[in-house]
Formats: sequence, C-alpha cells, structure tokens
Amino acid sequence: MRLAHCSDLHLLSIAGARFLDFANKRWIGGLNLLTSRSRHHHTEAFEDMVEDFAGAGVEHVLRTGDITNLGLEQEYRFARERFDRIPLGPREVTVLPGNHDSYIAKGMVHFTESFPAYFEGDPEWAWPVDEDDPVGSPWPIVRIRGGVAIIGVSTSLQTPWFTAWGRIGVHQLERLEQILTDPRLGDAIRVVAIHHPPAGKRAWSRIRGLRDHAELAVVLGRTGAELVLHGHEHENLAEVIPGPAGPIPVLGVVSGTYEAGRPHRTARYRIFDLEPGPGGGREGMTISHHLRIWHRDRRAFAVDDATAQESAGEPAAGVGFSPQSDS
Ligand SMILES: [Fe+2]
Repeated sequence: MRLAHCSDLHLLSIAGARFLDFANKRWIGGLNLLTSRSRHHHTEAFEDMVEDFAGAGVEHVLRTGDITNLGLEQEYRFARERFDRIPLGPREVTVLPGNHDSYIAKGMVHFTESFPAYFEGDPEWAWPVDEDDPVGSPWPIVRIRGGVAIIGVSTSLQTPWFTAWGRIGVHQLERLEQILTDPRLGDAIRVVAIHHPPAGKRAWSRIRGLRDHAELAVVLGRTGAELVLHGHEHENLAEVIPGPAGPIPVLGVVSGTYEAGRPHRTARYRIFDLEPGPGGGREGMTISHHLRIWHRDRRAFAVDDATAQESAGEPAAGVGFSPQSDS
C-alpha cells in the first residue's frame, strides 16, 4: 500500500462571505488569518499535489486536518470542489478535521455536511447510537484498505481565542482501544491518524497541544499500533510512543500548501510504503517513507532526494521501526 500523508492545507476562499459572518463571530482571529495566512498558503500547491498523486503511484491519501482557516461554509465548499478532483475518489481519500475547521461554532457541522464520503468509516465499523454520547460522534473511523487499517481520530473542537489545543475525549479513547484490539482487524497494519501532535513537547503545550496525550499514550501502550500520523505544527516531526512490543513511530508533516521563502517549510507531502510481511501480516512488515516537495517555480512536486535515500531499504519491521527526522 502506498499512502500519501498530507496536512494543514488551509484552503482559503472568502468568495461570498459577508463581513458580518466574521464580525458576528470571531472576527479578530478571522481578520488576522485573512490578512496573514492567505499570502502563504497556496491553492496552486494543492492542485499540483493532486496532479502528482498518479505519477507517484499513490493508492490512498490521508489528510490530517485543517482543511480550512475558519471553518466557514464557503471555505468547505471551495475545498470540497478541489478534493473531488482527486481521481482516487473519496473511498481512497481520508479526511480528518483540525482545530481550524472548528474555528467557528458551526465549523464541524459544515465539515460533516461537506465531506461525508471522505470520513465515512467502513460500514461494519460504524458505531451504534450511544445515549451517553450526546454528540453521536462517528469517531474514530476505521477504513481498511489493502491490508492497512486507517483509524481516524478527531481532536477538533472550538477553543478560546488565541488557543489551538485539541482533545480526543473519553469516548473516543475507549473506542480507540476497542478498535486496536478488535480481532476483526486481523493482521492489518494499524495506522492511527490524528490532527494534533500526540507525543513530544508539542503535545504538552497548554496553548496548542493535545490535552489528553497522556491518556492516549496509555491506550497505545496497551494496544500497540504500527504508525501514528499527525499534522498541526507545519513541521516534519518525529517522536515515538512506547508500545507493548517497542516504540511506535509518530510522524508529523509540513503543510501541504505553504510557501514563503523558507525552504524547510515549503509545501510537501510524505509517501509511505507499507508492506506486509511474507505471511501477509505485521510479522516482518516494512515501512519506508520519503517526501515530495513543491517547486513553485515549475508548478510541480518532486521527490526529496535526502529522505528517499534515507528511506531506501530501511529495515522497518513491526513496531521496532526507527523513525527518522527529516526536518
Ligand atoms: Fe492545527
């Protein structure tokens, strides 16, 4: 399975937005975003990335949140039109929400209405209606594709001004543990996807970290997982969470649309090759990865030679896989 991980697109469209949409809601942050962020996140990068997927042999695309800037309905509409241009189709494109997607109170409503086919879990993994869960959350979602189980967690919720933290919540953590130990997964390679960084000093931040990262570490410490992927920090980050059979690699990626003359932050996405072992399962599996970076001048993504060389032939058996830092 060749998986593309990208994040934090922050696609911006204010076409049709009324000033009152901002003034009545969170206008300080909104105006700030519109004046600064819009200059550095480029829809063209996303369009070039979509073009790049086929040539790079991508079989599944994972986007770990912050599709929009403010969670406005028109931003979601703009993003959805562009997501629909990915030839793989929504069954092979998994989208999670981030904190920006909940910037306004109705952000998650708009997300849910705009991207249903992109976060719809496999029907046999749908959660029954839970009276203790007033939101009726569909998260975590499970999508099994080609021997890989993609398990998407939502940390998206509206937070006070000037903060950007996230929380998984007790319900999702309980469900996550059930999923990760469910015999129906068989020997599938378990990839947990989440917007906020779940490990390292970024996770600890009270302003923009993951409030229940310690609880998540406890769950993963019991269940294990083969890989954890996140966004939010717009950096290539590499951490580990201790698992029952060794460290679980935790990797974050730079924004998929950013370009502002800072090479280490230039838009990119990461390709993972997840290969089951000889028996078709986790035993003896390999995970390798490399980056593809945007070249704005020629409107194209190209392989990053440094990470490709590092990754080639990298022995990555099971949870003992050693992540590499490429920031
Ligand atoms: Fe974020």
